[in-house]
Amino acid sequence: MKLNHEIVEKNVGLMGVLIAVVVSIAGLFEIVPLMFDAKAVEPLPGLKPYTALQQAGRDVYVSEGCYVCHSQQVRPFVSEVLRYGPYSLAGESVYDRPFQWGSKRTGPDLARVGGRYSDEWHEVHLMDPRSVVPESNMPAFPWLAEEMVDPEQTQKSLKTLQWMGHPYSDEEVANAAKAVEGKTKLEALIAYLQVLGTAVPRSIPQ
Ligand code: HEC
Repeated sequence: MKLNHEIVEKNVGLMGVLIAVVVSIAGLFEIVPLMFDAKAVEPLPGLKPYTALQQAGRDVYVSEGCYVCHSQQVRPFVSEVLRYGPYSLAGESVYDRPFQWGSKRTGPDLARVGGRYSDEWHEVHLMDPRSVVPESNMPAFPWLAEEMVDPEQTQKSLKTLQWMGHPYSDEEVANAAKAVEGKTKLEALIAYLQVLGTAVPRSIPQ
């Protein structure tokens, strides 16, 4: 047995192959049960796919790299639940492609930020964070008020998501471009922020 081990240790190629085998088996044990657990992929009751404007705002969130400083996952710990609200459930991320869970928190978690502030607060905060939170080190995003959402791109996003199984009606997809016409990226981003966490029941046992 000792001799066999020595063979593996002295042969990098063989060790690489064996590591891949072990990691794959461990991965299968984690991933396969989720495929058969309908709850993990079933949307929470009341969860709706993002509207065209919210989806456009989500694209702004991703393209501006908000996730570099903000997570969207409340962990099931007392301290987290007391600070942010009910912990995150798999069923609330079904329409998030890609999901924005993350673990980097230079700023606070945003999974429950919907409805916490007014649209006006978000506008002022995104234009100049230090005017409302003096100690903030969040960058300002003033260009979002000038740049417009691309209606054609938004329509394509919805169409692709519909194709991937999001329950959009053909009418919603057809009207997507019109729904975001003349909207700034700032307006779209705020619409997205305001819906975060709103489908989650507030009465999860804590
Ligand atoms: C360099 C890190 C950084 C980046 C990038 C960043 N933020 Fe922040 N954010 C922070 C910090 C720090 C705070 C806490 C202070 C404050 O409220 O400004 C914060 C606070 C917030 C809050 C208030 C949360 C609460 O519960 O009080 C919102 C909403 C927010 N950020 C949204 C965004 C959005 C949207 C983007 C992308 C356009 C973004 N942030 C990019 C660091 C960042």
